[in-house]
Amino acid sequence: MRRKVIAGNWKMNMLPNEAIAFIESLTPLVKDTENEVILCVPYTDLFYSLLTAQGTNIKIGAQNMHFEESGAYTGEVSGKMLKCIGVEYVIIGHSERRQYFAETDETVNKKIKTALANELKPIVCVGETLEQRESGKTEEIITTQTRLALDGLSSEQLSNVIIAYEPIWAIGTGKTATSEDANNSIKAIRNEVAKLYGDEVASEMIIQYGGSVKSSNAKELFTTSDIDGGLVGGASLKADEFAKIVNYNK
Ligand code: 13P
Repeated sequence: MRRKVIAGNWKMNMLPNEAIAFIESLTPLVKDTENEVILCVPYTDLFYSLLTAQGTNIKIGAQNMHFEESGAYTGEVSGKMLKCIGVEYVIIGHSERRQYFAETDETVNKKIKTALANELKPIVCVGETLEQRESGKTEEIITTQTRLALDGLSSEQLSNVIIAYEPIWAIGTGKTATSEDANNSIKAIRNEVAKLYGDEVASEMIIQYGGSVKSSNAKELFTTSDIDGGLVGGASLKADEFAKIVNYNK
């Protein structure tokens, strides 16, 4: 049985004092869940969040990192920098980074490799645009993105990788993919992983859904055959709403 992983992506929101207050409120609300709880916070909140989450079941992730180990890359943050303060997860290739910051399948692949080399667990985002969806290309796009993202990784490395299927048209729009559509897309991703690594690895891979997940639709989405939890944007900014999503099965 695969575990369910519920991750919040705060994007460019939350000051350190807000992050601390959020984690203090969330802690008692999610302490009894068997689901994995992750908060991916801005760089400036990482240290405060890690300290506040110490001794709880809340894990902390970053939202991006550079693929080089170190060097003259002004403004960038390396995998080692994240790892050494205690960060466990890192989102790689979010569609907002692909769209606004020139992230490509190639940089996504390099970042995944550097993340794993630094013992960080990447949450790798794939997803189609509305135009691609309407022209019937969803499956082709998401399986290609998956293949290119994972290029060169071993099966052992894959056990530390999470994939998040986030249809771009569903992000921040209030439009959610139907649970059936999302489940089918995630099945297509899982099939692609099976082609590359075999059925056993594919059946153990955690693949989340992201795109307007909220407490009112979490249960329907997360109780399908292949959706292993969610990557939650807007609804992860309020502790009680995010806790309801984490506790969707209570
Ligand atoms: P929303 O939940 O706000 O649609 O954002 C989804 C997302 O991009 C999570 O990474």
